[in-house]
Amino acid sequence: MSGRRATIGVFDSGVGGLTVLKEVVARFPEADYLYFGDTARLPYGTKSAATVGRYAASSARYLEQQGAELLVVACNTASALALDAIRDAVNIPVLGVIEPGAERASAVSRTRSAVVIATEATVASHAYQQALAARQMAAREKACPLLVPLIEEGWIEHPVTEQVARIYLDEAFAGAGDGNAAPDVLLLGCTHYPLLRRLLHRLAPPQVTLVDSAESTAAAVAQKLELEPLPPPSPGEERRIVPRLHCFATDSVEKFRRLGERFLGHEVERVTHADLE
Ligand code: DGL
Repeated sequence: MSGRRATIGVFDSGVGGLTVLKEVVARFPEADYLYFGDTARLPYGTKSAATVGRYAASSARYLEQQGAELLVVACNTASALALDAIRDAVNIPVLGVIEPGAERASAVSRTRSAVVIATEATVASHAYQQALAARQMAAREKACPLLVPLIEEGWIEHPVTEQVARIYLDEAFAGAGDGNAAPDVLLLGCTHYPLLRRLLHRLAPPQVTLVDSAESTAAAVAQKLELEPLPPPSPGEERRIVPRLHCFATDSVEKFRRLGERFLGHEVERVTHADLE
């Protein structure tokens, strides 16, 4: 990136996308960030493609109006169901998390077989399965709808979460290698799951590598910005004095701050209520 700071918009149904933001910020500390959490309308993971498309398009337009020059759709469900609707709604480049996640899985897999865990809607779309098939990989997809509320409750290293995760993973991996190559990748296809990395690593079969879309999406953003740098500043253009991170939430600002801290790992300072009506 040459010349001036980019303004990167990151969109999610709620606070979970802060896991993706965190990784992008780590690679691009020089950029300004706008984060939008559609907390009034979450969860997206249980909704239809038409509804998610409508919600995601209006949220993306809001970020563009606030000055985002590149949009990262951190929400796996929105990336899986509504990437085209989002691209149609805005005039800035849009990056989803499915392709980077699949690319990373493909890079680390030897057996060419993965288990993908995600929301119900992401699993029903088979977006990950298709992205992996395009890379000659087989995928078993498993919806884990109880994990998001448990994580939002802050139950990270908690016996109930461990029990629930164990049941999901046992079901996902049961017989997965029979007659075929055993999966050697567990793809975390939901914004929230990186918080359970340690727990999932303990519970997954030993040959399995965990891949999360947060890390791989950050790499894709870096590549995008290198390939399509912003134009240099025009003579006399002032360096904008904007905060590095400005968050918007469609529901309670207080709740966003409280939950957001857990996902970001530090205080979320500037949060503004966004009214899309
Ligand atoms: N952000 C969603 C995802 O990554 C999880 C939360 C929701 O269902 O809205 O799929």
